[in-house]
Amino acid sequence: MLKGRSLLEPMDFSLEELEDIFALAKEIMKEPAKYIHVADGKLLATLFYEPSTRTRFSFEAAMLRLGGQVIGFSEANSSSAAKGESIADTVRTVGCYADLIVMRHPKEGAPRIGAGASDVPMINAGDGGHQHPTQTLTDLLTIQCDKGRLDNLTIGICGDLKFGRTVHSLMKAMSRYKNIRFILISPEELMIPDYVRKEVLEKNNIFFEEVRRLEEAIDRVDVLYMTRVQKERFFNEEDYVRLKDSYILDAEKMEKASKDMIILHPLPRVNEIAVEVDKDPRALYFEQAKKGMFVRMALIMKLLGIEEGSVN
Ligand code: CP
Repeated sequence: MLKGRSLLEPMDFSLEELEDIFALAKEIMKEPAKYIHVADGKLLATLFYEPSTRTRFSFEAAMLRLGGQVIGFSEANSSSAAKGESIADTVRTVGCYADLIVMRHPKEGAPRIGAGASDVPMINAGDGGHQHPTQTLTDLLTIQCDKGRLDNLTIGICGDLKFGRTVHSLMKAMSRYKNIRFILISPEELMIPDYVRKEVLEKNNIFFEEVRRLEEAIDRVDVLYMTRVQKERFFNEEDYVRLKDSYILDAEKMEKASKDMIILHPLPRVNEIAVEVDKDPRALYFEQAKKGMFVRMALIMKLLGIEEGSVN
């Protein structure tokens, strides 16, 4: 039962609970018109202390498409955070008005602090370089829809594996499925953090290898998960400039990939996928962004306890 629960990291939900969310998302995708009034009278609050396009808009679109309404802010300076209000006090207050709160924050753990002060469910929409669980729901749904499975996969993850929260969330979530292999493609400075290596990969005996060049992996993966170098997490501009174009996936490199390989990217993209790749049928990243709205519609319904039986 997901009613009233918070989602702070992917492991908060069991595999069965995730499967229920994906099943509902697929039903909504088939017949969205059936769901346009299921959240009538409900209110979602989006507290975004960091910029966002996909996560905020897809949550807002999801709630509106379910018949609910949305309040919130898209930068901290337009809220009383600018006057020094704590996260806990902000969340406690917003929970007096809304039925569900979605928070993005540059500080790791901020949504967890919010959840501790909240009487309504809290969803982590990305906390620093830590986790981004609803992006992971989006990624898993996209893989499942295309591949028909979430096990027996070789996943290449390329780019900023140090600061990329979508990477950390995805690896954690995938660690629960059978026979998952990772090929991790990054510059030495942007390798996965030690805690992910120890607590996710080594602890669960997951096969992984680390390579420096995309060409060493592209013909061996079922899913290629590209990421941008996270400019906002760097301490100095010089390092960012040196590393930002470490990988550029282009049509020439795609010739080496299998015809069944799919390319995902949480977006936004900077230079790491050439625009010419967008027309390749294996490029699913905009489809992935679309699925993000449907999976968030399913998540909202589950957390609010909206029964599928109430759908006409
Ligand atoms: N994938 C993602 O989190 O995108 P936004 O930063 O635009 O929300």
